[in-house]
Amino acid sequence: MITLGIDTSCDDTSVAVLGDDGVYANLVSSHLIHAEFGGVVPEFASRAHTKLLYPLLELALRTAGISLDDIDLVAATAGPGLIGSLLCGLSFGKALAQASGKPFIAVNHLEGHIWSLLLSNPSLRPAFLALLVSGGHTELIMVRDSFDYTEIGATLDDACGEALDKVGKLMGLGYPAGAAVERLAVRAESPAALPRPNPKGLDFSYSGLKTAARNYLTANPATPAADLSAGLQEAAFDHLVDRVSRAVKEFDVRQVGVVGGVAVNNRLREKLSAAGRKVGFELYLPLPELCTDNAAMIAAAGRARFGTFGPSAFDVPAFDRASFAERPASAAS
Ligand code: KG4
Ligand code: ZN
Repeated sequence: MITLGIDTSCDDTSVAVLGDDGVYANLVSSHLIHAEFGGVVPEFASRAHTKLLYPLLELALRTAGISLDDIDLVAATAGPGLIGSLLCGLSFGKALAQASGKPFIAVNHLEGHIWSLLLSNPSLRPAFLALLVSGGHTELIMVRDSFDYTEIGATLDDACGEALDKVGKLMGLGYPAGAAVERLAVRAESPAALPRPNPKGLDFSYSGLKTAARNYLTANPATPAADLSAGLQEAAFDHLVDRVSRAVKEFDVRQVGVVGGVAVNNRLREKLSAAGRKVGFELYLPLPELCTDNAAMIAAAGRARFGTFGPSAFDVPAFDRASFAERPASAAS
């Protein structure tokens, strides 16, 4: 079975071709225009998606060495994300499926991120705990069985990646800043001391850390960017490790997966591996190219869901915001 995946949830346009024996193509085009503005400008994102989708489809088919006729299923992200952006990829996927007589499946972007883990670790089976940590989300999800997701913790304010991006912007690192923060942090000599967030239970909070970093910079304007970056990473990631460790104990789970754009970060991977040895869980990670937004994970989630639940209706709507708990499914039914 060959699945075409489409993701336009935010500021990356991605088209992928997934076969039974692996990923044939997974093309991602990130919109550089947003860097000028220090954040995503939704209208520019929609225009870029509209321009990029068709050429990316052609290139993905060529890379995979197939034609449209060979596709058995079209999968596209329905939400959550920027509504204008989502509508571009969702409408494109629906139109393509309808015009070519193929079945269509709408995918929840967050379920897609979880599938990045399963694509990278085919032997992984539920139950496992998934930490989703990206620019738009910071959540803990218990995956008890296939398609059985329970959100057990989520950010009360900003996402972890958003905090890295916003503090990075203060340091003039451009947008998004997570990768630059990681590169700088390696060169730190005296990491800035920043407070660890500590909201109740299994929830997360990052807005206080963002403010603390800004105040630190105001009080210590000569702080090298490397030191602030390292201090920021330590505080941000200790908070993630603390919640994961608590959840592992509370839910007595032995497998933990980390997904989303921030999961590519080596310092976070190191810290979580150390916690795994201490607390007693095995850590599963997606391949680096499957951490940030991509359509291969959407194709994988769509194929699995289609196999169990069948296709989506062509009038399935896009949705901008919804927690995983509210909308775990593909919004298909
Ligand atoms: O999953 P993703 O591509 O998009 C969302 O769904 O949000 O994640 C993007 C986030 C951004 O906040 C970006 O700064 C962060 O992932 N990121 C990183 C790294 N590379 C990307 N954060 C830390 N270290 C990195 N190397
Ligand atoms: Zn994402």
